[in-house]
Amino acid sequence: MHFSPEFWSIFSFLPLFVPSLRDPEYPSSTPNPPGGNGTEHDALWLAASPPKYPSPWMDGSGEWATAYKRAQAFVSQLTLLEKVNLTTGVGWQGEDCVGNTGEIPRLGFPALCLQDSPLGVRNADYVSAFPAGGSVAASFDREIWYQRGFEMGSEHRKKGVDVQLGPVVGPLGRSPEGGRNWEGFSPDPVLSGIAVAQSVRGIQDAGVIACTKHFIMNEQEHFRQVAEWNGYGYVFDEAISSNVDDVTMHELYLCKPFADAVRAGTGSIMCSYNQINNSYGCANSYTLNHLLKGELGFQGFVMSDWQAQHSGVSSSLAGLDMTMPGDTLFNTGYTFWGTNLTIAVVNGSVPMWRLDDMATRIMAAYYLVGRDEASVPVNFNSWTTDTFGYQHAFAKLDYGVVNEHVDVREEHGRTIRDHAARSTVLLKNTGNTLPLTGKEKFTAVFGEDADNNPWGPNGCSDRGCDNGTLAMGWGSGTSNFPYLVTPLTAIQNEVLFNGGIIQSETQNWAYSQIMSLAGQASTSIVFVNADSGEGYIGVDGNIGDRNNLTLWRNGEALIQNVTAYCNNTIVVIHSVGPVLLTPYYDNDNVTAILWAGLPGEQSGNSIADVLYGRVNPSAKLPFTFGRTREDYGTDILYDLNNGENAAQDDFVEGIFIDYRHFDRAGLDPIYEFGYGLSYSTFAYSGLQVEKHAVGPYMPTNGTTKAAPVLGNYSRDLADYQFPSNLSAVPFYIYPYLNSTDAADASDDPSYGSDDFIPEGARDGSPQPRVAAGGGPGGNPRLYDVFFTVRATIQNTGSVVGEEVGQLYVSLGGPNDPKVVLRNFNKLSIAPGASATFSADITRRDLSNWDPVQQNWVITSYPKTVFVGSSSRKLPLSQRLSI
Ligand SMILES: *[C@@H]1O[C@H](CO)[C@@H](O)[C@H](O)[C@H]1NC(C)=O
Ligand SMILES: *[C@@H]1O[C@H](CO)[C@@H](O)[C@H](O)[C@H]1NC(C)=O
Ligand SMILES: *[C@@H]1O[C@H](CO)[C@@H](O)[C@H](O)[C@H]1NC(C)=O
Ligand SMILES: *[C@@H]1O[C@H](CO)[C@@H](O)[C@H](O)[C@H]1NC(C)=O
Ligand SMILES: *[C@@H]1O[C@H](CO)[C@@H](O)[C@H](O)[C@H]1NC(C)=O
Ligand SMILES: *[C@@H]1O[C@H](CO)[C@@H](O)[C@H](O)[C@H]1NC(C)=O
Ligand SMILES: *[C@@H]1O[C@H](CO)[C@@H](O)[C@H](O)[C@H]1NC(C)=O
Ligand SMILES: *[C@@H]1O[C@H](CO)[C@@H](O)[C@H](O)[C@H]1NC(C)=O
Ligand SMILES: *[C@@H]1O[C@H](CO)[C@@H](O)[C@H](O)[C@H]1NC(C)=O
Ligand SMILES: *[C@@H]1O[C@H](CO)[C@@H](O)[C@H](O)[C@H]1NC(C)=O
Repeated sequence: MHFSPEFWSIFSFLPLFVPSLRDPEYPSSTPNPPGGNGTEHDALWLAASPPKYPSPWMDGSGEWATAYKRAQAFVSQLTLLEKVNLTTGVGWQGEDCVGNTGEIPRLGFPALCLQDSPLGVRNADYVSAFPAGGSVAASFDREIWYQRGFEMGSEHRKKGVDVQLGPVVGPLGRSPEGGRNWEGFSPDPVLSGIAVAQSVRGIQDAGVIACTKHFIMNEQEHFRQVAEWNGYGYVFDEAISSNVDDVTMHELYLCKPFADAVRAGTGSIMCSYNQINNSYGCANSYTLNHLLKGELGFQGFVMSDWQAQHSGVSSSLAGLDMTMPGDTLFNTGYTFWGTNLTIAVVNGSVPMWRLDDMATRIMAAYYLVGRDEASVPVNFNSWTTDTFGYQHAFAKLDYGVVNEHVDVREEHGRTIRDHAARSTVLLKNTGNTLPLTGKEKFTAVFGEDADNNPWGPNGCSDRGCDNGTLAMGWGSGTSNFPYLVTPLTAIQNEVLFNGGIIQSETQNWAYSQIMSLAGQASTSIVFVNADSGEGYIGVDGNIGDRNNLTLWRNGEALIQNVTAYCNNTIVVIHSVGPVLLTPYYDNDNVTAILWAGLPGEQSGNSIADVLYGRVNPSAKLPFTFGRTREDYGTDILYDLNNGENAAQDDFVEGIFIDYRHFDRAGLDPIYEFGYGLSYSTFAYSGLQVEKHAVGPYMPTNGTTKAAPVLGNYSRDLADYQFPSNLSAVPFYIYPYLNSTDAADASDDPSYGSDDFIPEGARDGSPQPRVAAGGGPGGNPRLYDVFFTVRATIQNTGSVVGEEVGQLYVSLGGPNDPKVVLRNFNKLSIAPGASATFSADITRRDLSNWDPVQQNWVITSYPKTVFVGSSSRKLPLSQRLSI
């Protein structure tokens, strides 16, 4: 039997002495991923990713039962061509959205519209610009995350979007310089996990499918895509490989955050550009088949990042369900799926059950969130803000109304203002400098970051510049501002209302004017920033990832010039993550410091609410402010290190990033993870630990059912030809064939030259279930509640305030971090009053990943619970008896 066509050709030029690079098709001799305990590392260099086949088929477990049945009923009616249409995008700029599947006209089923971003609707007008994920992480507030998700989801729904391309937990934030960290939440996996779950629920309750991304180890922009980085003058042939051991994969990157997104029911997950242990994110049978669909029991569909698919048959067998935007590279007119997938299924390279599973997963996500009832036709166009334009932008075809300018913002501006204010972290407040009264004698505002971008808030495409106040990073994770309230405008309104004096100097290099104004001011407020974004744009030489951790636009000199002449200087930082505060944080003339993150459209109003005390700050740092860049212990790989082959990024730090690293290395940060002040003060007392009766852990056993096959199909290629009456859109991707000769129709230069199919990849018989699996999010027993922890938090100050009580655990082993965040609870408390903090500890919270057993275990090392106000202020603790 001849299994063709074969699309392994992408690998054919790789040197044979690097067999692991040929994964997943190369039968690896490594039974498991590199071992390791998360601290010391095996040789990860040229790490291999073991093959794991077949791709698990959806079984409707958890909350998916009804959606699964409806999806199967729908898919059962489809022809092979119609199923292929669901899985394949029509090509870059083929339709209105950044991604569009084919449609099913016979059943009146419209194309699915996929649209960026994780902070609003990208490439559209009359939409809101929400605070970034990395900002709202600081709120430590489940309600804020849910509400923000719901409002973003509503805006997408009303624009006609089926899938919102967000939220983000990859990057997690391994290195603070990572260009897209701000799109996600926090380098702490538990904080990220809870935030992503709430975001998924919010988006999907609004009737839109969430796409949690990017799966997995997508931790830097450098070398993520070959063509992009060839364009910057780097010569190499395959994307960077993030090399990681099994413990680190499980304890840091996979569980929680992705496991929590799956458990919350995320309808789709986007696979990433990078390789993981030298196998591409979108063709990695280990990460997609085994970890995501096997162990985590993911029921939805895996969608490729844009141009992250590099092969046809292999990606399908490795667990990819939808290719975006559909063409091999933008606007080639060719595709790895579409025509090629039709041929591959007809000749048996891809089994029919696998195509049925792809289509079922897509339709199940559709029904799960109620798309059949929530859907409206797409009413905007990603490629123009004009009313008129081409329906098929790249082909310049079908001119007409493409943008109806539907205003979907509702009252979201109010919540955006509130959420950004409640995500602003107060780091320093000498002698209660803040809140201000508005009656200060002479207020001076400094910094470009206080003022407008002279080119307008959307003056730089995809926010690819650092002009004016920073309220969003750059790249595809953006939306257009409907307006951007600057800090200067809002502060000026405040001061003028109170009859005061306000002046500003917003040119960062105007030293003499800065110093002169600072010398007159009784209160100076200095705005500074640091930006980053996605790798297809470079700003000031920062190609996505930041080149350093210092301020941009001469920020340090600005602060120095102001503090030299004003003994009451308040510093406000808008940044994508940590910056080095070392030169000025302990200057006595710096009387207050606020980290305001990336606040979105209401920036000025949000910061004014905090500065003038309408909002009492309660946010906590979702990362560490260290003293030096080196103190973080992790960094971007800025240089190729494997000749012209894939750069090898060994995650040798294991699970020790951010505060886990600072704690282990005994380094003093400036402001630790979890830290944040209030205008009030709080005291912790009375720790109580309630133990629950819990049954034993039960590894999942037994086998799955056989893969369902939904319908028959013809094996005659004549039945799949382009319809004679179709006037094909140029460069558009279709499921049809141009010839009854498979090699001609496929147009694959290596067609039929290789008949390798990974062992077992087409086996649809019942398969053993994964012991650590058993339902969406993994083995259900992992979520058993072992303990409920309570403590008393008293407001010892004089104003009402919110306090985030934080629960940390020490797992006690020699390779465990000193403490790890496991839960938190935000309480609003009146002055003098007390409230009860309460939080659960689950089995998973107490477990370590055992790479030998391939399961979670509670070790015999002593476990301790801590409660307090930051990762280093933990006044209450107790040994846990398990
Ligand atoms: C951790 O793993 C490495 C190899 O993976 C091993 O050499 C080392 O002894 C282990 N450490 C402990 C404490 O188990
Ligand atoms: C596939 O989708 C394309 C583009 O939306 C559409 O023109 C075509 O009719 C669809 N084919 C089938 C078989 O439904
Ligand atoms: C099929 O895939 C191959 C790459 O494997 C590509 O070269 C060819 O152009 C594709 N064919 C079509 C019709 O898109
Ligand atoms: C805006 O940013 C771009 C890109 O960094 C820069 O070239 C330009 O000078 C800036 N424009 C203004 C008016 O600041
Ligand atoms: C860090 O990068 C920013 C942005 O490119 C730049 O303005 C600044 O000068 C750099 N800092 C140092 C110390 O080079
Ligand atoms: C103001 O900043 C400039 C540039 O860094 C520096 O040369 C000058 O000394 C500063 N002035 C004061 C008083 O610190
Ligand atoms: C603080 O400000 C005062 C002016 O109010 C100035 O005399 C002093 O030198 C400043 N101190 C520092 C460390 O810049
Ligand atoms: C700051 O300087 C002003 C005069 O410029 C002075 O009245 C005030 O006491 C100083 N404050 C501190 C805290 O030194
Ligand atoms: C499978 O698991 C169940 C429940 O956990 C247990 O009762 C049964 O003995 C297990 N079967 C095997 C063959 O291990
Ligand atoms: C197949 O034929 C259609 C219609 O003539 C044409 O637009 C398309 O480019 C052809 N595709 C290939 C892969 O040759």
